[in-house]
Amino acid sequence: FFRTEIPEGLRRLPGPKPLPIIGNVLEMGSRPYLSLTAMSKRYGEVFQIQIGMRPVVVLSGIETVRQALIKQGDEFAGRPDLYSFRFINDGKSLAFSTDQAGVWRARRKLAYSALRSFSTLEGTTPEYSCMLEEHICKEGQYLIKQLNTVMKADGSFDPFRHIVVSVANVICGMCFGRRYNHDDQELLSLVNLSDEFGQVVGSGNPADFIPILQYLPSTTMKNFVNINARFNTFVQRIVSEHYATYDKDNIRDITDSLIDHCEDRKLDENSNVQMSDEKIVGIVNDLFGAGFDTISTALSWSVMYMVAYPELQERLYQELKDKVGLDRTPLLSDRPNLPFLEAFILEILRHSSFLPFTIPHCTSKNTSLNGYFIPKDTCVFINQWQINHDPELWKDPSSFNPDRFLSADGTEVNRLEGEKVMVFGMGKRRCIGEVIARNEVYLFLAIIIQKLHFQAVPGEPLDMTPEYGLTMKHKRCHLRATMRVRNEE
Ligand code: HEM
Repeated sequence: FFRTEIPEGLRRLPGPKPLPIIGNVLEMGSRPYLSLTAMSKRYGEVFQIQIGMRPVVVLSGIETVRQALIKQGDEFAGRPDLYSFRFINDGKSLAFSTDQAGVWRARRKLAYSALRSFSTLEGTTPEYSCMLEEHICKEGQYLIKQLNTVMKADGSFDPFRHIVVSVANVICGMCFGRRYNHDDQELLSLVNLSDEFGQVVGSGNPADFIPILQYLPSTTMKNFVNINARFNTFVQRIVSEHYATYDKDNIRDITDSLIDHCEDRKLDENSNVQMSDEKIVGIVNDLFGAGFDTISTALSWSVMYMVAYPELQERLYQELKDKVGLDRTPLLSDRPNLPFLEAFILEILRHSSFLPFTIPHCTSKNTSLNGYFIPKDTCVFINQWQINHDPELWKDPSSFNPDRFLSADGTEVNRLEGEKVMVFGMGKRRCIGEVIARNEVYLFLAIIIQKLHFQAVPGEPLDMTPEYGLTMKHKRCHLRATMRVRNEE
């Protein structure tokens, strides 16, 4: 890479000098989003590091990232062939695999349309505007009951442990047409392992770049392979049950709709993209995985921030009380009337930047950015954390201040400010679950804020230090929840 000829008129990428064999691994440290943000100040918005022997280009700055992912979108839309990615969804993941552009595009379109139709599908009763709303409202009520029970029994609760089951049930409802109890051991053992999954696939894991590490015994890697295998077996079993009971005239959920697509495709002689049934139905594995971990992490952080800032928690409650009242469950249609909640969510996404990097990208051909030459097949990290903490974009970026997203009189959300927050990526690989995610985080929060008040356990200081990974989580902890209004039971 260093000896590559640079085409005339283009410059060689700047960056720190690598050490033999390990490259810049030591400088990256255990919080790459911070070290790579610091390097961007020194080397600029496009620079190169070396992880092991492999060069990686790091992009920062909203305009530079927009240029790469939107204006030169096709050139930056690939995924690198990383060791850990091969274990996800048996190497057939929509989000992580190195599928050719045509196959990836066709799968992405299918995933997007299945997700949209099953979230906007009519609810089973007229009080809900769509299935997504119905699932969330029902799971929100179960969650409140569950937290109430746990509080009575134990006096405290672990936020992630319970939120993750509720969120997993929403995506299970859409993907598989079923839900699980909060004490279902099989589901619990899967969804509670997502921390270990994220730690391995976070950008910059040395084992992805230094081949020798793949041969050394590693408990983390062993656990990772095991989690993926269990996850695949879980989904496979549900898919087989769907094949056995599939009825063309009664498409029950996303899995059925993907099976249906395979059947239709066999009749479609004009279909020009060759894809196995496995690759089509396997999409449900990605949707389920992406659909519970990200949203549970967002909600769990939200609860932590409410505890850390009790005055903001009170403002959120007052807004709900004034605009929705306490007699009915909040709905999706209330969202425009709750600007402070909206601003609070935007600030959680910005301040925590719990997805500090997108999934790594890869160049599909020789290209250039800001005058620098970038060869084909170069791995590219997009530093979302840097954009969300860039002092050029944000006043006092390290302070947690939802008001930054509100108009001066506090009655409206400033949309342009909100669009600067980068957590869903941009361009061709932008998250396909964004609309669902924003609605789901909003509605779950509205439902729990209306009923519960959260506090730290006396004597247990709140630890807000994120643990690095694809999605960064807070340390597991215990909190207290008390009912705001008398339980109807
Ligand atoms: C990809 C963020 C929720 C499905 C991504 C990416 C990010 C992201 C950063 C990678 C973009 C890139 O590589 O440039 C989030 C956040 C969420 C969320 C912050 C919640 C707060 C969801 C949900 C689903 C979903 C609910 C589906 C049910 C996907 C899929 C991809 C993806 C399938 C891969 C797209 C591709 O590679 O073409 N998401 N996501 N996400 N997301 Fe999400």
